[in-house]
Formats: sequence, C-alpha cells, structure tokens
Amino acid sequence: MRSHEFISFVFLALSIFSPLQSIGLLRRAMTHPSFSEESNKALSILGANVIETSVSLQSLTKNLDISSKDLNRLISEMSNVESSCAVDGMRLALQKVVRVSPKTNSSSPSVVCGAFRAIFGAIAVDTQMADEAGNVFWRVHSGQIGRALAL
Ligand SMILES: *[C@@H]1O[C@H](CO)[C@@H](O)[C@H](O)[C@H]1NC(C)=O
Repeated sequence: MRSHEFISFVFLALSIFSPLQSIGLLRRAMTHPSFSEESNKALSILGANVIETSVSLQSLTKNLDISSKDLNRLISEMSNVESSCAVDGMRLALQKVVRVSPKTNSSSPSVVCGAFRAIFGAIAVDTQMADEAGNVFWRVHSGQIGRALAL
C-alpha cells in the first residue's frame, strides 16, 4: 500500500463524524516534535496504549490462562520500535509524509514509529473509541488493509 492510499483510508475512517477535526488530527499525527510546536508526541503515547490494550485484549480472549510473562513478551514484541512499529510504518511509507525539521532523518525508526502510533491515537480521539483504533491497528498490522486497497 502506498502512503497516500493509507492516508486517504485513515482520513475516510476519521471523517465520518467531523471532516474538519479529522484534517487537524491527521496533520498533527504526521508531525514530528522537531517540526513545530504542534507535534504528534501525545497522540503517539495514546496510540502506544491503544496497541498494548488491543494486544492484551486479543491474547486474553484467545487464552484466559496466558501467563503474565507470555503476555508481557507479546506486548513487548508488538510494541518494539525497530522490529514491529517502524516496520509497519515503513510499509505504509509514512517516512514520506511525516513532517520533520530539515536536520531530522524522517526514516529513522523513532520518527516512523511515532507517526505510526499517533495514527491510532488520532483515530481514538476522533471516534472516542479506543477499540475502534485497536481494530484498525490489527488490520494494518496483519496487512489486511494493504491487500484490500491493492484489489
Ligand atoms: C536515515 O535513517 C535510515 C534508517 O535508520 C538510514 O538507513 C539512513 O541511512 C539515514 N539517512 C541519513 C541521511 O542519515
């Protein structure tokens, strides 16, 4: 999936209730703190929490007997900046759309990961539903959204 297709998808998902608020949220989600005072930092904290909640919920739904050790390991794997978060973000080519200062490398894992997480924070704020954002995370992470758009 190309980044413009993904951004269009997110915009459509966001703009059901309020197109104007969605533009602002999306722009903020794609703004690294190095670029301006408007930044995606807080949205990306919410996004990271959405992902953790969603991973925990899915794991416990599948197996109520999962050990705390296994659950923590799954959460760390899914939240890992280099191996998971930045990989998903690069696949969506977010490095091409995220706004950074001229001195900042937009392809660095922390920048791509921050933008990726902020998208789920933005969806949660817009819909006022963390589980809705979690559902979008799973569809992106599993590649479903990419495949659907490629058809
Ligand atoms: C930017 O970061 C990426 C990923 O870490 C790296 O491969 C690339 O060489 C960096 N580019 C510059 C100009 O430093």
